[in-house]
Amino acid sequence: MTPEERINQLRSEINYHLYRYHVLDSPVISDAQYDEIYRELLALEERHPGLVTPDSPTQRAGAEPLDAFEKVTHPAPILSLANAFSEEDLHAWRKRIGRLLPQTDMHLDYVAEPKLDGLTVVLTYQDGAFVQGATRGNGEVGEDITQNLRTVISLPRRIPVDPRSDLSAPATIVVRGEVFFPLDKFEALNEARAAAGEPLYMNPRNTAAGSLRQLDPAKTAARPLTLYCYDFIAWQGIELPDRQWDRLELLRNFGFPVSPDNVYCENLSTVGQVYQRWIEKRNEINYEVDGVVVKINDRPLADTLGFVGKDPRGSIAMKFPAQEKTTKLLDVQVNVGRTGILAPAAVLEAVEIGGVIVRNATLHNYDEIERKDIRIGDTVLVKRAGDVIPYIIGPVVDLRDGSERKIERPTRCPVCGEPAVQIAGEVAITCDNPACPEQLTRRVEYFVSRGAMDIDGFGSQTAVLLVEKELLHDVGDIYSLRKEDLLDLEGFKDKKVDNLLAGIEASKAQAADRVLTALGIRFVGSVVAALLVHELGGIDQIAAAGEERLQQVEGIGPQTAISVAGWFGREKNPVILQKLRSAGLNFSAQQQADQAETLAGLTFVITGTLPTMSRTEAKGFIEEHGGRVTGSVSKKTDYLLAGEKAGSKLSKAQSLGVQILDEAALQALAHSGVD
Ligand code: IVH
Repeated sequence: MTPEERINQLRSEINYHLYRYHVLDSPVISDAQYDEIYRELLALEERHPGLVTPDSPTQRAGAEPLDAFEKVTHPAPILSLANAFSEEDLHAWRKRIGRLLPQTDMHLDYVAEPKLDGLTVVLTYQDGAFVQGATRGNGEVGEDITQNLRTVISLPRRIPVDPRSDLSAPATIVVRGEVFFPLDKFEALNEARAAAGEPLYMNPRNTAAGSLRQLDPAKTAARPLTLYCYDFIAWQGIELPDRQWDRLELLRNFGFPVSPDNVYCENLSTVGQVYQRWIEKRNEINYEVDGVVVKINDRPLADTLGFVGKDPRGSIAMKFPAQEKTTKLLDVQVNVGRTGILAPAAVLEAVEIGGVIVRNATLHNYDEIERKDIRIGDTVLVKRAGDVIPYIIGPVVDLRDGSERKIERPTRCPVCGEPAVQIAGEVAITCDNPACPEQLTRRVEYFVSRGAMDIDGFGSQTAVLLVEKELLHDVGDIYSLRKEDLLDLEGFKDKKVDNLLAGIEASKAQAADRVLTALGIRFVGSVVAALLVHELGGIDQIAAAGEERLQQVEGIGPQTAISVAGWFGREKNPVILQKLRSAGLNFSAQQQADQAETLAGLTFVITGTLPTMSRTEAKGFIEEHGGRVTGSVSKKTDYLLAGEKAGSKLSKAQSLGVQILDEAALQALAHSGVD
């Protein structure tokens, strides 16, 4: 085989395995095997640079930043849809189109598809190769975002994706899809940003939009965007099936990701049921959905119905009741974060949104407040999506009566009273006083929290109390707390004190990367901490490394390197480290009592609300023990970890005979292998 042939073979295999892993959620080879073929391709491409093509799986984030996006004229207009808001509207639509059908009351069947709240993309494939991807733009002309779409892992770069498929690549197809940010990934991104002391992203849709329109594809690549495809816009060299249901199937067979939640509906009343069911479960699904798109299954027939403006008559969008409501902004609190960031938080007049009472919302930062011109006393539009923290879309300016007050930027820390500072080039306003008691409380809370040292019996209230009573001056003091001091505190009886001390003692066994995470260094969440400890060997080596060496670690950027080196260089911090070291905490990767991989080889799916862990934490726990977490239940799933309000995943697991665990059973399973 020539190098070129081998390269082509490897690319096709790699694309297939990416698809098995990211789209079907059922890999057929191990990660190590995947790495092996990927490395072989990399090595071959290095030896034969002339054979590197932009569609190689190795080139996902490789392209150079652009100065601007080129314009793209779509091969056919990218249409939108008329809306319906109730089952009545749905029946009215059926009646309207009846007049245009060969027979008014002829039987029609439908396809109901989730209406994803993402960004439309138009994808062109020539002879099976992905050659261009564009935004919708004004429906006629969009922007060329090919480079950025190449970084989306679930987007096929060649079709058919499965080399064993008996489909052949058509001369041209242009496919329409919707790119979105999965909600769990969005939550994890914001958790990591919060842990790193960075400002949070507003909402999944805008973050997805912003990521797609990055001129530097490396930035897009860093965001776990995905997509679902649902239509052909243009095609040549292929005959499409007449039924929408079969077109979806064809898309899937080419290897495009297609929503698993599409439903075939025998008649209109089934469509109504699907709509009701979706309203109930919309908060359980991992992407934002704002309605159900109802399509006449017979596409040629639907096409004969024509358009109203830009809306084809053959489909209609049944919107869900809005997860947005207006309420009054009563006040803005300033919260002091661990790294000193002064974060504005909205205090709202309580309002029910989608079954949940909302009293607080994020306001992100003061630039954002000014940009949106939000004022205290304003009626504001609040949005809630999935489990994401509610946020303020903006004020309803027309409802102002003149009594509204501007929100002032803080000039002092509301707790310690020291002047607030704004670092040039950053949006955050911070309290720069390292002795600020509020910052210390936040640092202690973070140190003992589940993602860090995970100290049982040490909650927020304990942190507040211990700082207030001056028993803690830094996190190092946690390990020298004495029983007699604690017994003096209000509400601390013998048993409670013993539990707390036992929890503190047990935490000494935590691995070095946890200790590093717990220090709360800006930009150093659990992922970065594990990288650093693994690469440099331990906390002392990291402390000694210096900015330049830190930056050489793959995955560590200049910002993080500066922050880490800065932290270890600060006067008080060696003292804290010394206290932790003498308490016997793990500082090196080797000391790390090997976290037994008790869940190795097992695949889990998580659903519902767990009693103590968030879903992200449960995922981390499983992965730390060597297990794998996927998004949907299949025959390959070993266990479903189910909490309260588990939905369709639970019934699916039951029907497939997948074992079901609660949180306690998971803990027991994970610890069963450890002596
Ligand atoms: S069909 C003519 N199907 O919703 C066909 N659209 O309000 C029109 N959308 O602009 C589109 N999921 O961005 C269709 N399964 C789906 C969809 C979907 C989301 C978006 C699309 C469109 C808007 C229509």
